[in-house]
Amino acid sequence: MATIGFIGGTGPEGLGLAMRLALADDRVLIGSRRPDRAEAAAQQVREALAAVGREADVGGGVNRDVVREAEIVVIVVPFDGHEATLNDLREEIGGKIVVDAAVPLAFVGGQPGIAAVEQGSATEQAQALLPEARVIGAFHNLSARKLQALEDEMAGDVLITGDDAEAKQAVMELVERMPRLRPVDAGALAMSSFVEGLTALLLSINRRYKSQAAVQVVGIE
Ligand SMILES: NC(=O)c1ccc[n+]([C@@H]2O[C@H](COP(=O)([O-])OP(=O)(O)OC[C@H]3O[C@@H](n4cnc5c(N)ncnc54)[C@H](OP(=O)(O)O)[C@@H]3O)[C@@H](O)[C@H]2O)c1
Repeated sequence: MATIGFIGGTGPEGLGLAMRLALADDRVLIGSRRPDRAEAAAQQVREALAAVGREADVGGGVNRDVVREAEIVVIVVPFDGHEATLNDLREEIGGKIVVDAAVPLAFVGGQPGIAAVEQGSATEQAQALLPEARVIGAFHNLSARKLQALEDEMAGDVLITGDDAEAKQAVMELVERMPRLRPVDAGALAMSSFVEGLTALLLSINRRYKSQAAVQVVGIE
């Protein structure tokens, strides 16, 4: 079990991931720019687990304090706050494992798409901004709404990118602790733009099918 800190964890994606990992008996820490928002979100995690008869090991605090305490740091801020947030936390993050779930979503003419990122993807931007950290891309394609619906198991694949084998293994093990979610090694950090782009595709599919679709790769064991 690990201590996992969520930077921007007060939003729906961070809350959903925190709930699922708390359900898997990890200790989760909700990070926010404001301590009162962090504590309110931590309480939401407690209540969500209580509703399914479980207890959560959850805390909350400002992002910087959460980074200090966490073994694994998950980035769940919107892309427009990504660069400034990571710059601000660089020193505290140091050489930790960082899981980036941010998607540089952009809507053009009402259609979901992906904004151009100088480094190629949000995940590669994170690695460029945090040179000492071991950055892994994951969770981009998981619907926040489904993550938070704890009464249902969440099926699908989590596509994982990264250049550090040990950090990638640690994140794959994290995913394995969530029933029915399967970690899939999607390759190097350089593959991250494809994974992030799939989120725009899923949004387009969801609009048409009124769904919360997930990704599943067939033909691998
Ligand atoms: N929602 C989904 O279904 C989903 C699915 C896959 C991936 N994602 C990705 O996951 C990330 C989080 O998604 P979300 O829907 O949870 O986002 P969100 O609600 O827009 O933001 C999450 C939290 O980030 C903090 N934040 C907002 N603007 C910020 C800024 N400029 N600088 C620093 N912190 C800021 C806020 O927390 P405080 O005000 O408490 O600090 C907010 O509650 C996004 O990058 C998104 O693309 C989302």
